[in-house]
Amino acid sequence: MTTLNLTPDHRPTTLVGTIPPIAEHPRLTVIGTGYLGATHAVSMAVLGYEVLGVDVDAAKIALLASGRVPFYEPGLPEKLREALDTGRLRFTTDFTEAAEWGDVHFICVGTPQAHDSNAADLTYVDRAFATLSSAITRRALIVGKSTVPIGTAARLTELVRASSPVGERVELAWNPEFLREGYAVEDTLHPDRLVFGVQSEWAEAQLRAAFRPILDAGTPLVIADLATAELVKVAANSFLATKISYINAMAEVCEATGADVNILASALAYDSRIGSRFLKPGLGFGGGCLPKDIRAFIHRAEELGVGQAVTFLREVDGINQRRRTRTVDVIREMVGGSLEGVPVAALGAAFKPNSDDIRDAPALDVARMLSAEGAIVTIYDPEAMPNARRAYPELSFAPSLPEAVRGAEVVALLTEWAEFREARPDDLGRLVAHRRIVDGRHALNADEYRARGWEYRALGRPVESRTVELLSDARD
Ligand SMILES: NC(=O)c1ccc[n+]([C@@H]2O[C@H](COP(=O)([O-])OP(=O)(O)OC[C@H]3O[C@@H](n4cnc5c(N)ncnc54)[C@H](O)[C@@H]3O)[C@@H](O)[C@H]2O)c1
Repeated sequence: MTTLNLTPDHRPTTLVGTIPPIAEHPRLTVIGTGYLGATHAVSMAVLGYEVLGVDVDAAKIALLASGRVPFYEPGLPEKLREALDTGRLRFTTDFTEAAEWGDVHFICVGTPQAHDSNAADLTYVDRAFATLSSAITRRALIVGKSTVPIGTAARLTELVRASSPVGERVELAWNPEFLREGYAVEDTLHPDRLVFGVQSEWAEAQLRAAFRPILDAGTPLVIADLATAELVKVAANSFLATKISYINAMAEVCEATGADVNILASALAYDSRIGSRFLKPGLGFGGGCLPKDIRAFIHRAEELGVGQAVTFLREVDGINQRRRTRTVDVIREMVGGSLEGVPVAALGAAFKPNSDDIRDAPALDVARMLSAEGAIVTIYDPEAMPNARRAYPELSFAPSLPEAVRGAEVVALLTEWAEFREARPDDLGRLVAHRRIVDGRHALNADEYRARGWEYRALGRPVESRTVELLSDARD
C-alpha cells in the first residue's frame, strides 16, 4: 500500500489522549442515496459492513428498500439485492435513527451549479451536515464525499462544532469520490486510489477501518489535509475536462485546415507521455460533474484571489460548449443551409452511454438547438427516455431505434450507446429518407457507412475522411 502521510504537526492535537477505541468494523450511514450514495451504500454492505442509507426523498428510499434502483447503473440492481439479502443494508428517512446508530457517516448529497452563478449550490450539503450533527449525541465521524469548493470542509467543521450537542466529539473528514457512472460499482469496489482528508489520527483510523477490505486489496491511499482532499477532486475533473477540450480545440483547427483530428489523436495517443485516455474528439463532456465542477472551481479560485491560475478553464468550458453548436452547424450544412421542417433522428439523450443521467447532456442540448431552428427532432435513448421526457416534455421521442430513424433526413449520433455503434448501416439505411449521418462521438465505422451509400460527417474530420481506429478505453 502506498501511503503519503502528513507530518504529525500538520494535525491538530486537541483530540490526542482522548482517543476512544477504534471500531473494528464501524457502522456506516450514507446520507444522500443518489448516483453516488446508493452505489456507496450498496458496495460497503457487499464488502461486509452494516450500512444505513438515508435520504430526504421518501420515494427513493422506498424503492431502494424494496430492492429497486431508482436510476440506471449496470450491475447495481444485482448488488442491491445481494446486499439486502445479507440483512446488512437498510434504508430510512430518519436522521435521528442514523445519528444514534452510525459510527461513520458519509455525506453524499448533491452539489449542483447555483441557479444564478457558476458557484456550487451548497444548500444540500449544509443542511445534511447541520441536521445530522445536531442529532448525534456520541463520538462519531462525519465524512464528506460530495464534491465541494475548497474551504467548505473547514467551514463545515465550525458548523458541526456549533450544532453538535457533544461538541468536538463529532469530527469531520473528507473523502472525495471518483466513481464514473456506468462503472460505478466497479469503481467503488476497486478505486484507483483513496484520499482521506483528516484532522486527527482518530479520524484516519476510523476511515482506515471503514475501507479495510479495499485497503487490504492494495489500493493506494493518500492522507491529506481537508483543503487538499477537496482540491484533489476538482483538480482531477479539471484535468480530464482539459484533455477532452484540448483534442476538441485541435478538431476546430482541423476543420479550418482540412486535417483529420482522428489521425491526429491516434498519433498523439502513441506518445506515452500523452496517452489515449480522454483524448477522443467529439461532442464533448457533460453530466452532473465535469461542467459544474470546473465552473465552481473557477468561481472559488476567483473568491480566493487566484482566478488567474484557472482562467484556462473558461476556455475549456467554451471549447466544450462550441462542440454542441458546431454539431448543429454540420447537420444544417448537410441539408443545404436550413433546418426548417427537416426530420432529424437524435440518437442518445444521456450524457454518456451506460447511464440514464441527463444532467447537462450534450445530446439533449443539440436536440433542443435543432428543434429551436425548426427541425422535426425525434429522440431515442436506450435508458434515459423517462428522464429526458420529464425534463423536456416539449421534445418528441420514439420508442425504438428503428422508429427514431424512420423518415429522417439526417441521423445524428449524440451518445455512443452500443446499440447505435452496432447498428448495421444497411438496416438503418432502409428506414431513413436520406442516408446522411453525423457521428458526434467518432464511434462509427466511416468506411462501412460510406460503402453503404451514406454521407458521413464527424467533427474535425474532412468530408472524405477514412476510418481511423482510435486507441481508447470504452469506459471513458
Ligand atoms: N454521480 C457521479 O458520478 C459522481 C461522482 C463523483 C462525485 N459526485 C458528487 O457526489 C455528489 C452527489 O452526486 P449524485 O450524482 O449522487 O447526486 P444525486 O442528485 O443523484 O443524489 C443526491 C441525493 O441527495 C439527496 N439529498 C439532498 N438533500 C439531502 C439531505 N439534506 N439529506 C439527505 N439526502 C439529501 C437527494 O434526495 C438525492 O437523492 C455531488 O457532489 C457530485 O458532484 C458524483
